[in-house]
Amino acid sequence: MRSLIFKDRSKLSPYYIPAVLPHREKQIQLLGSIYMKMLDDIDGAYPVYTQIVGSVGTGKTCTTLRFGRMLTEEAERRGIRLEHVYMNCKVDGSTRFVLFGNLVKKVAPELSTRSLSGEEMLHRLVEYLKDRRKYVFISFDESSEEPKGEDNLQPN
Ligand SMILES: Nc1ncnc2c1ncn2[C@@H]1O[C@H](COP(=O)(O)OP(=O)(O)OP(=O)(O)O)[C@@H](O)[C@H]1O
Ligand SMILES: [Mg+2]
Repeated sequence: MRSLIFKDRSKLSPYYIPAVLPHREKQIQLLGSIYMKMLDDIDGAYPVYTQIVGSVGTGKTCTTLRFGRMLTEEAERRGIRLEHVYMNCKVDGSTRFVLFGNLVKKVAPELSTRSLSGEEMLHRLVEYLKDRRKYVFISFDESSEEPKGEDNLQPN
């Protein structure tokens, strides 16, 4: 039955990302100046890391997801195989081994194995992407400053 109160209930979902994010034009433009430019010379692309900081609820996740969509749409228009992979560190794993394992599972499930270290898995993933001329834009969300588990081991 059609709701008399809501025009579109899907807009209440935490996964709903509006097409336009008011007051985030500058941040989206800034991300664009870093990553959109890379599409002009994708063969010369190199890894670029950006940390997004801001108070709770200021739209870090929303802005990243919106920008990720813009970037992949633009890449598709140019015939570049680029995927946005969203990793939520609280859900996808708080140790490198689990997190990188889940990253590989999302991008290249056929490479997924438990017999390699996190770093080896990443290395395989990079080779896999290079062979296929594929690109990934990866966001790590909800990362804690203090890594847990094996990452937290300090040398004596
Ligand atoms: N530019 C915007 N205009 C209006 N609402 C927005 C905007 N950006 C985000 N929101 C809304 O504000 C809420 C919080 O956004 P979001 O989860 O992206 O923030 P966050 O900075 O990632 O929060 P946290 O620090 O808890 O991870 C969401 O409901 C989102 O839809
Ligand atoms: Mg967030």
